[in-house]
Amino acid sequence: MQPLVLTRDPSLLDDLARVAAGAGVQLEVRGDPVGALSSWSLAPLVVIGDDLVGEVAGVAPPQRTGVVVVCHAPATEVFRLALDLGASAVVELPAAEAHLGALFADVEEAPGRGLVLGVIGGAGGAGASTLACALGQVGGRDAPALVIDTDPVGPGLDRLLGLDETAGVRWHDLAASAGRLGSRSLREAVPRRDGVGVLTWATGVATAPPLSRLRDVLAAGQRGHPLVVLDLARQCGALSAELMARCDLVLAVTPATVSGIASTIRLVEAMADTARLRLVSRRGAVPPRDLTAATGVPVAFEVPEQRGLTESVDLGLGPVRHRRTPLGRALAAFLAEVA
Ligand SMILES: Nc1ncnc2c1ncn2[C@@H]1O[C@H](COP(=O)(O)OP(=O)(O)OP(=O)(O)O)[C@@H](O)[C@H]1O
Ligand SMILES: [Mg+2]
Repeated sequence: MQPLVLTRDPSLLDDLARVAAGAGVQLEVRGDPVGALSSWSLAPLVVIGDDLVGEVAGVAPPQRTGVVVVCHAPATEVFRLALDLGASAVVELPAAEAHLGALFADVEEAPGRGLVLGVIGGAGGAGASTLACALGQVGGRDAPALVIDTDPVGPGLDRLLGLDETAGVRWHDLAASAGRLGSRSLREAVPRRDGVGVLTWATGVATAPPLSRLRDVLAAGQRGHPLVVLDLARQCGALSAELMARCDLVLAVTPATVSGIASTIRLVEAMADTARLRLVSRRGAVPPRDLTAATGVPVAFEVPEQRGLTESVDLGLGPVRHRRTPLGRALAAFLAEVA
């Protein structure tokens, strides 16, 4: 489906055509609001020029989301009519071209939202970052996956995935840019190999991105990737709590040892909501049912100990070197189950 454009202003149309070409989308252009009603509800996005906004409001089309008004110089009247139409924004060109380009680019995306998995360490050094990357690698084989690093004091997930020398945007690049983040531009901009992309920090001092930026990135990531994995910091308080609330499932990696369980109990006790929390156990003497009894949280699966994991990471191949490794098989089975 193409975005529906309603305008008779040739110079506005020129601008819109250029932005659409940049985003790789075709437009359906209409000059008569009544004739356009047949496409109004079906179009993925409706763009109304300020020259026709009054006429469009006059035919009182049904309310819908994804309506924007574009203009070269907004007049007060345009804002009022945009409100009447339930438009989400009045976009001024050429100033807001990038914003409009992102809206056009998103039209190309499949509807729906990707699965969001959070991974957190029940104890320090439990293997959470490794699991986050491994899930991204395994999920990325079938469809694009995105691993988002939210732990400023971690090793940098691009390193774990062997993408630290791959060009692409990192957190500081996103902090510098303002405006709406397109799902396709995010997917194409991050360092990526074999279907898995990563958003992390460049080497040097890392600070947690503002929550608003994290929300944007997560939303754009979900629109553009069937699987998004968040590496959650154990110590980020409100930030991790908010991110966890946005996950479909949170996996707490728990060493099946007495001290591992003790740490995990503390983590679980600090959580307001554990409905979507599952444990993932690492090697240890304590059987899964005892982990659940001690923490009150079900065990989703056991992470196999992966021989040669450090070597694989050092070689830049990520934690899952081949799909047939025990870790690769266990994660493929888990993802098939939750999909
Ligand atoms: N499934 C596994 N098999 C073998 N080794 C593993 C496995 N998972 C993690 N490790 C090893 O455990 C160590 C810690 O892993 P990782 O950095 O992923 O833990 P973490 O929970 O993210 O730690 P932190 O608390 O520092 O964030 C690493 O050396 C890693 O190679
Ligand atoms: Mg970590």
